[in-house]
Amino acid sequence: MEPRKITEGVFWAGAVDRDRRLFDSLIPLPDGTSYNAYIVTGTEKTALLDTVDPSKIHELMARLEKTAKIDYVVAHHAEQDHSGALPAVLEKYKEAIVVASPKGKELLIDHLHIAEGRVKTVADGEKLPLGGKTLEFIHTPWVHWPETICTFLEEDGILFSCDLFGSHLSFSGIYIEDEQKVCEASKRYFSEVMMPFRPTIRKHLERFAKYDIKTIAPSHGPVYKDPRCIMDSHAEWVSDKVRNSAVIAFATMHGSTEALSEALSEALWRKGVEVEVFNLAHADLGKLAMSLVDAATIVIGSPTVLGGAHPLAVSAAFLVNALRPKLRFASIIGSLGWAGRMPEQLTSNMGNLKAEMLAPVLVKGKPREADFAEIERLARAIAAKHKEAGLF
Ligand code: FEO
Repeated sequence: MEPRKITEGVFWAGAVDRDRRLFDSLIPLPDGTSYNAYIVTGTEKTALLDTVDPSKIHELMARLEKTAKIDYVVAHHAEQDHSGALPAVLEKYKEAIVVASPKGKELLIDHLHIAEGRVKTVADGEKLPLGGKTLEFIHTPWVHWPETICTFLEEDGILFSCDLFGSHLSFSGIYIEDEQKVCEASKRYFSEVMMPFRPTIRKHLERFAKYDIKTIAPSHGPVYKDPRCIMDSHAEWVSDKVRNSAVIAFATMHGSTEALSEALSEALWRKGVEVEVFNLAHADLGKLAMSLVDAATIVIGSPTVLGGAHPLAVSAAFLVNALRPKLRFASIIGSLGWAGRMPEQLTSNMGNLKAEMLAPVLVKGKPREADFAEIERLARAIAAKHKEAGLF
């Protein structure tokens, strides 16, 4: 295995993980992923930017076989998919010094037991000359952890952006030419990993404006030869703009909540609102997250189970709450059976949302005509709110 050349003195030396199907025991990876490490070689010093997931140490080591000396290992982020092979690299390259933010140093010591003396901390804006190649470190906390930094390679205009701008895609080579495919994958990735940090990313994007970025080399997925599409997409995703669209995510046991969800979907569509419907029993959580990037409304549907909301609906509400999408409106629909605290449970799980709660539609047992009239009322209310907000 050889490092793959990006430009003179800059190489991709990571690992593609085509078979990985789950991240953090939560995020589905339909297209696998990659852990990107890069080598930057100056006339005097060599830096390795990030490592790989521990499961791929052997691939990283194979790509480093002909690299006799590494002076610095830049650890952008202490999460193990990038720093997991750091101990093995430090074992092989005894002189190498780890470069990290002060918070990064702390986390590397805690998570990987890296010896304190081997870590050099760098300030925001600090530069590290390698001889004809200059690395500038940009502190970008909370994309994805509090310690995260990016590196700008001055001479080549390459931004090594760590998790930011990434995508969970496996690939051959370095690039994927199909921009549509990469943008779709990075929207999915943004929704799953970055969406909770929207206001922070907005500030980071403003700071990047002063750099002449010609290439973006993230830590997951292919390298972007032309950064415009991915930067413009992110600017859109982190903005407060929402689309005229509603997401209905429901669990159902005997079909009642499903019937309400389908009726709501139909009624919204008739009123000109785009709708995406997810049956939580087999929904792809990545697609659900993606639909929330710019949706204006969410409706969660649940039956009552053992006196409360269905666990799948609770889990969806919890996830939506954690992802903090820019939703403007929310509601709850479902079949109560005979009693229960379903609506209160779901509402209390969505405390982070700044969405206006619209009156729920709660039905006893199998929905009757009057219940479908209530669904129609909810659809009218959602459409009116979207109109008021100027969404259509
Ligand atoms: Fe790809 Fe936050 O690690």
